[in-house]
Amino acid sequence: MKELVIGFALLVAGCLLLFQLVDDSVLSGIFSLSSTQVTKADRLSVIYINNNCTKHNVTTNELPYHDLHMKWMAEEVTKENYAKANISLEAAYEYVDQIAIQITSQNLFGEKVYCHYFDSNKKKIGEPFESNVFPESVIYCLRRAGTNYVSLTKKPNDTPEYPIPLLDRTMEKPEHYFSVCIAPFFGTEPKWLMIAEFVEWYKLQGATYFYFYLAEMSLYDRIILDDYVRTGEAEVVIMHDRFDRPGDRWHMLEIHDCILRSRAHSKWAAFVDIDERLTMTQYKGTILDYLKNIGDKSIGSIQYRQRWIMKTEDQPEKYINATEVRVRKS
Ligand SMILES: *[C@@H]1O[C@H](CO)[C@@H](O)[C@H](O)[C@H]1NC(C)=O
Ligand SMILES: *[C@@H]1O[C@H](CO)[C@@H](O)[C@H](O)[C@H]1NC(C)=O
Ligand SMILES: *[C@@H]1O[C@H](CO)[C@@H](O)[C@H](O)[C@H]1NC(C)=O
Ligand SMILES: *[C@@H]1O[C@H](CO)[C@@H](O)[C@H](O)[C@H]1NC(C)=O
Repeated sequence: MKELVIGFALLVAGCLLLFQLVDDSVLSGIFSLSSTQVTKADRLSVIYINNNCTKHNVTTNELPYHDLHMKWMAEEVTKENYAKANISLEAAYEYVDQIAIQITSQNLFGEKVYCHYFDSNKKKIGEPFESNVFPESVIYCLRRAGTNYVSLTKKPNDTPEYPIPLLDRTMEKPEHYFSVCIAPFFGTEPKWLMIAEFVEWYKLQGATYFYFYLAEMSLYDRIILDDYVRTGEAEVVIMHDRFDRPGDRWHMLEIHDCILRSRAHSKWAAFVDIDERLTMTQYKGTILDYLKNIGDKSIGSIQYRQRWIMKTEDQPEKYINATEVRVRKS
C-alpha cells in the first residue's frame, strides 16, 4: 500500500517535471505502471478479449488514495486551467480498484462532477456517483457491477454526455513489459519516415507496443501508422472534441491519457516525442534489459538526460525507393 502511494506520488511529480521540460521540447521520462496494491480477493478472473467488459461484475465502495487526492487538489497540483472544453469524454478505463474517465477539458480542476453508469444496452444502472476532476483531466469513479459504459455530468440530474465504453484494465498481468507513448502529431512536416525509424528503433530496444496520438496528419503519413495498427503493434488515439485548440495543446492530455491507458496494460511506458530516441550509454544492453533488472519496486519513474542534435532539413515527403532512403541518410 505504502509502496504504491510513493509510486504514484513519483508519477505525478515526474509528470509535472516532464511537462516543464517537454515544453522546452526534449526530456523523456519512463513511468512504471505496475498495479500491485490489490489483494487477490479483489481480483476478477476475466479474460481480456476485445475490450469486452460484459464479464465484469464488480462493485467497489471506496476510491483508493481519496484523502491524498483531496490533499493534492487543495494544493492545486497539476492545475492547468487551459482548454475550456466543458465535459468532453475521451476514454474510460476499468481497473481492479476503480474506474478512471479521461476528458479533454483542462479547465475543470477540482470541480464536482457525477459519474453515470450504463449496461451493454446503454441502460442506466443506479444513481450517479459524486466525484471530482483530479488530476486536471481525470475523474475517478467507483466500479459498479454490470457496467459497460460510463458518462459524466456537472449536476446529478443533467442529461449525461453520450456514454463511452469502459476499456478493460483489470488484467492480472500486463500484456506488455515495455511500451511507448508518443506525443500527439500535429503540423505539416511529413512524418512517415520518422514513424518507421522510431518504431523500429524502440523495437530494437525491446518495446512491444506503441500508443500513438493524432491531432493532425496527412493521409500519406497515416498509411504507415495504420500498418503498425494492422500488425497489432500500435493503437492510434484520435485527439478531437467539439472545441478548437492549437495542435500542440493536446500534449498534456496525451500524457494524462497514456498513463491511464498503459496502466495494467504495460508494466513500463516511455513518454517521448516522435523525434526522441532513448538509449543506454553506460550500460551494455537494451532499455528492456535495464528495466528488467530494476528490482526496487519503489522506483516509479526513470528520467533520461537529453542531448540535442541539430536537425537541418525537413523529412522527405514521399517514399521513392530503398536506395533513395539510404542515400538520404548521407
Ligand atoms: C462479450 O462477452 C459476452 C459474455 O461473455 C458474450 O456473450 C458476448 O458475445 C461478447 N461480445 C463480443 C463482441 O465479444
Ligand atoms: C452480478 O453481481 C450481483 C451481486 O453483486 C449479482 O446479484 C448478479 O447476479 C451478478 N450478475 C452476473 C451476471 O453475474
Ligand atoms: C459549455 O458550457 C457552457 C456553460 O455551461 C455553455 O453555455 C456552453 O453552451 C457549452 N458549450 C458547448 C459547446 O457545449
Ligand atoms: C531510386 O530513385 C532515384 C531517385 O529518383 C533514382 O535515381 C534511382 O535510379 C532509383 N533506384 C532504383 C534502384 O530504382
